[in-house]
Amino acid sequence: MLVSKPIRFTVAIDGPAAAGKGTVAKGLADHFGFAYLDTGLLYRAVAAKALLGENVITAANKLVPTDMASQTLRSSEVAQMASKVAVIPQVRAALLAFQKSFACQDGGAVLDGRDIGTMVCPEAKIKIFITASAEIRAKRRYDELQSKGLETSYEVVLCDVKERDERDMTRKDAPLKRAQDAYLLDTSDLSIVTSLQRAINITSAAFVKVI
Ligand code: CDP
Repeated sequence: MLVSKPIRFTVAIDGPAAAGKGTVAKGLADHFGFAYLDTGLLYRAVAAKALLGENVITAANKLVPTDMASQTLRSSEVAQMASKVAVIPQVRAALLAFQKSFACQDGGAVLDGRDIGTMVCPEAKIKIFITASAEIRAKRRYDELQSKGLETSYEVVLCDVKERDERDMTRKDAPLKRAQDAYLLDTSDLSIVTSLQRAINITSAAFVKVI
């Protein structure tokens, strides 16, 4: 009898703010039938609670899935606060175990964030570092926020993106950086479809070896 073994296959997607990680990660997960986790939402959910006055470390330890469902998590205010709470080692530690077990689940997983390829899942089969110029990332995020009815200006979004990148790259604990073995995907001049196709091509080459 042929018994197919469970597939463990993790794709780690990292990159700076609003680089299009989520779109590519979600598209990859759909294409391969893998589970998908937007790890930024965990930090945003803790940030939203911090903005309501809750203790951040307690909030990080008590996070439940419904905390990640609110539309308000996409705002620039929450994003800024997310990068501030993400500096705190106890917050990162509280969120790590869940991310690690998500990454290792049977059936494959795609996670996107800042430290997936370096800290959460250094053994990921595929790592992709997605980037684009700050101006292009800000324009894309501005359009996204507009489409969701969230009031802001391009200048505010550009400032947010640059400030968060700086904070994320210079923090001591799990800073944003490209893992040595990560593919670099600069999407400045690429459409969503082409960016996703590149990511699928990169992933397919490794995936066929494990199935
Ligand atoms: O969508 P965008 O790239 O703008 O941000 P996000 O992925 O939702 O992450 C919001 C913030 O959470 C980031 O600026 C980081 O400070 C933090 N974060 C992190 O430190 N580590 C992760 N794995 C994911 C997000």
